[in-house]
Amino acid sequence: MDVQIRPLRREDISRVSQIERQAFPTLWPATPFKRELENRRAKYLVAMDTGSLREVHQDREAVPPPPRDPVSGGLLGRVLDGLKARLTNGVPDPAAGPEAESIVGFLGLWFMADEAHITAVAVSESWRGRGVGELLIIGCLELAMASGSSVVSLEARVSNHVAQSLYLKYGFEKVGIRKAYYTDNREDATIMTTRPINTEEYQARFRRLKECYMERYGEVIIRLGEGEETAVDPPN
Ligand SMILES: CC(C)(COP(=O)(O)OP(=O)(O)OC[C@H]1O[C@@H](n2cnc3c(N)ncnc32)[C@H](O)[C@@H]1OP(=O)(O)O)[C@@H](O)C(=O)NCCC(=O)NCCS
Repeated sequence: MDVQIRPLRREDISRVSQIERQAFPTLWPATPFKRELENRRAKYLVAMDTGSLREVHQDREAVPPPPRDPVSGGLLGRVLDGLKARLTNGVPDPAAGPEAESIVGFLGLWFMADEAHITAVAVSESWRGRGVGELLIIGCLELAMASGSSVVSLEARVSNHVAQSLYLKYGFEKVGIRKAYYTDNREDATIMTTRPINTEEYQARFRRLKECYMERYGEVIIRLGEGEETAVDPPN
């Protein structure tokens, strides 16, 4: 599959905010991604459509680059970029570049004591049902394991059977209800938690699930940190 996972970067924020608004139209306030990038207890992963990126690069090689704008890149350019980001408030920013534009999903994780808590996971509408949400969950579990978390937890709307089915597949269990948790319609949240992820039992299950994923979708690359790469290879 032509999708890669990597950590969220500053230049991705407008695209990720757009996906968040599409997936959670009643969410208020929106996630302050810029502040979250500074939060040592938070980690965000994005899924990029690398197929579309390759096409952009091929097109770029065929077309000579436009003349360089003397403003961009300098101090004034950075100030203008910052101003533009504030004014557009998350509206897709073509200046963010093809990598940010190729983002098709994201996941947020907060680390609290020995627990990793998924704060959000969303896939762009046109990409749903194609394995991106599952790949983000695989990336998140890899990250939680690498960070030494014992369990991963989350809340999901009781009516969100699609999301719950994905979490159940990865060993999350329904452990409780938060009454009227969602402020828009006072819907209850189902609390879901994995069994300890550092046990041989869970690791074996996770390995099997990853193998099935790779058999179905092929090799994918997961980068948990800048420069780090975990290639999840298909089984022989
Ligand atoms: C929930 C969400 C992230 C799933 O991502 P996705 O890329 O569509 O899911 P995938 O294609 O990776 O599917 C993974 C699993 O999810 C479940 N799933 C996906 N689509 C489903 C559907 N239409 N019906 C039932 N289950 C479904 C299945 O368990 C599936 O595993 P399977 O293919 O082995 O059956 C995505 O639908 C989304 O962004 N929804 C809106 C935001 C949201 O509800 N987020 C969750 C908040 S708790």
